[in-house]
Amino acid sequence: MLERTVQIVSNERDTDQYFRLVMRAPELAMAAQPGQFVHLRVMAMKDALLRRPFSIYQARGENLSVLYKTVGKGTDVLARMGPGEELSLIGPLGHGFTVPKAGGETPLLVAGGYGMAAMYMLAERSPQKGVVFVGGRRRVDILCEDEFRKLGWDVRVTTEDGSYGEKGIVTQPLIAELRRGAAGRKLFACGPTAMLKAVAKIAEEFKVPAELSMDEHMCCGVGVCLTCVIPVKTADGWEYQRTCTEGPVFDSREVLWEVPK
Ligand SMILES: Cc1cc2nc3c(=O)[nH]c(=O)nc-3n(C[C@H](O)[C@H](O)[C@H](O)COP(=O)(O)OP(=O)(O)OC[C@H]3O[C@@H](n4cnc5c(N)ncnc54)[C@H](O)[C@@H]3O)c2cc1C
Ligand code: FES
Repeated sequence: MLERTVQIVSNERDTDQYFRLVMRAPELAMAAQPGQFVHLRVMAMKDALLRRPFSIYQARGENLSVLYKTVGKGTDVLARMGPGEELSLIGPLGHGFTVPKAGGETPLLVAGGYGMAAMYMLAERSPQKGVVFVGGRRRVDILCEDEFRKLGWDVRVTTEDGSYGEKGIVTQPLIAELRRGAAGRKLFACGPTAMLKAVAKIAEEFKVPAELSMDEHMCCGVGVCLTCVIPVKTADGWEYQRTCTEGPVFDSREVLWEVPK
């Protein structure tokens, strides 16, 4: 884990509320693995104490990129920043995805909204190609579609309002695909909690392994404050684990969606 003050190389709008931020961060870029995240402090913000977690989207040469959606105070200030301005980064953090092996299980990636960022790095690093299911509310929530195709992945798009791709939710084409044959498949998912919970249920039903990147609110990002804990099954019951250090990626069979009574 490294803490560095980094310079913005570019910070451009992708669609609607989504931006691509490229930073010059050679050491972090070299160490980054799919599913890991960076904890970013926007020094230009008045209340700059709290960092914000973002999945690593690309790590190429000296540059590290994230793909973010403007949703509040931090991301609004971030969206107004430009090349040459500085940010503070801690990373790469967390336990990421297991990169599929050549000739191993066929990966089925399931991504909702900004979850596509973490999925892109996994697709890029995976020697074994598979299918990416990308879903969002509207067409503008569909990111990276062409980039996944350029990597040689089969891409299936769904939008809830039907403005692009198949109308519905991202798990519909996933279920259809698994009905055609579930053996030798493995699921990887990143997106809103409701989507992750649905993917875990599907994995159980079709008896396929699944890794989920949990989306919990974080404060310190380094295992100290316990803001980010979730209940996880263990050999002798369950315990709280920190999504920032033991996660954000967990085996779907380990995640408990409610605290046991
Ligand atoms: C491991 C991890 C990876 C992430 N990767 C990305 C990414 O690649 N791209 C991206 O755009 N966002 C990502 N997020 C979410 C991102 O951290 C939040 O959107 C961001 O912190 C909001 O900061 P803000 O100051 O703009 O919002 P605030 O003003 O702090 O809050 C605005 C709204 O955003 C909600 N929010 C804050 N944190 C989260 C969260 N973790 N999940 C869902 N809603 C949240 C708040 O509840 C509130 O409604 C990730 C979160 C985690 C935990
Ligand atoms: S965010 Fe502080 S322990 Fe995870």
